[in-house]
Amino acid sequence: MGDLGAETSRQTKQRHFITGASSGIGAAVAAMLYARGDQLWLLAHGNQRAHELWKRFPNAEILVADLANPFTLEMALLGAVLPPLLNCLLHIAGVIDFGSVVDLRAGQIREQVNVNMVAPMIITGALLPALRRARGLVLFANSAATLSAGAAAGRSTYVASKSGVRSFADALRQEESSHGVRVTTVFPGRTDTAMQQRVYEYEKKVYDAAELMGPDTVARSILHVVDLPIDTTIHDLTIRPMPPDKAGESRSVTRLMEAARDSITSISPPSRVS
Ligand SMILES: NC(=O)c1ccc[n+]([C@@H]2O[C@H](COP(=O)([O-])OP(=O)(O)OC[C@H]3O[C@@H](n4cnc5c(N)ncnc54)[C@H](OP(=O)(O)O)[C@@H]3O)[C@@H](O)[C@H]2O)c1
Repeated sequence: MGDLGAETSRQTKQRHFITGASSGIGAAVAAMLYARGDQLWLLAHGNQRAHELWKRFPNAEILVADLANPFTLEMALLGAVLPPLLNCLLHIAGVIDFGSVVDLRAGQIREQVNVNMVAPMIITGALLPALRRARGLVLFANSAATLSAGAAAGRSTYVASKSGVRSFADALRQEESSHGVRVTTVFPGRTDTAMQQRVYEYEKKVYDAAELMGPDTVARSILHVVDLPIDTTIHDLTIRPMPPDKAGESRSVTRLMEAARDSITSISPPSRVS
């Protein structure tokens, strides 16, 4: 009976490979999956980050690689002990840089294209055999900015690299559905992270977290996709923050309704005087 219990808990423990776990949305996703006992493989940008991740997630496997450098990424993957069976590959790492096309430097273009598009392509190829064995999920953190043409000026390379990886995801879905591998692209709107602080700086706006989604909110939506049964798939998922005034309004309506309900329940029935 004890052995059966142990076997059952081993079967339900999921295995996930995550990029971007050191910060923002990726850190929130990793923390939630780690807290429930799932097994994590985390890709760290460098040795310093690897040490930080190891301290936060002591039971996780840490792989060091710079996603901006396709050659060293390939070498790191070749030299790594990768999971033989993988339930989820979560591509969450990303970079954004700004500037008009006329001013863009080659290094800015290379970094964004490599981190946001080329690296997810290379990692996916390396892990597909393990994903097929588990009828697993490949999830790409894209951006709601790629869905509206109005959000592209000044961030052309970011939007182009995210659009490219979206097409890659769509092709991957067609190729892999017969192997049971599911592919999801998540399009978050503005989220309270280090990346969004850089966006506000570029836009010369005062940073206001109340206008944004929390990284935990986006992480919970990602966990919903991760936890779908293997006979179900979500192709695309868009998550957007509610405008702060409406959220405030709905909160105050809720507070008013709660106050009204409390005042009703606190009225005692009149006692009968006999
Ligand atoms: N925040 C938003 O409003 C928002 C909106 C839409 C979409 N997204 C997307 O959501 C994802 C997560 O964004 P976030 O806001 O959570 O960003 P974040 O807080 O800036 O985190 C980015 C992550 O990517 C990793 N990374 C960047 N360059 C790397 C490299 N060369 N090699 C290895 N790792 C690298 C970072 O690690 P290091 O810190 O070690 O470099 C970090 O863990 C991104 O794909 C982003 O495009 C974000």
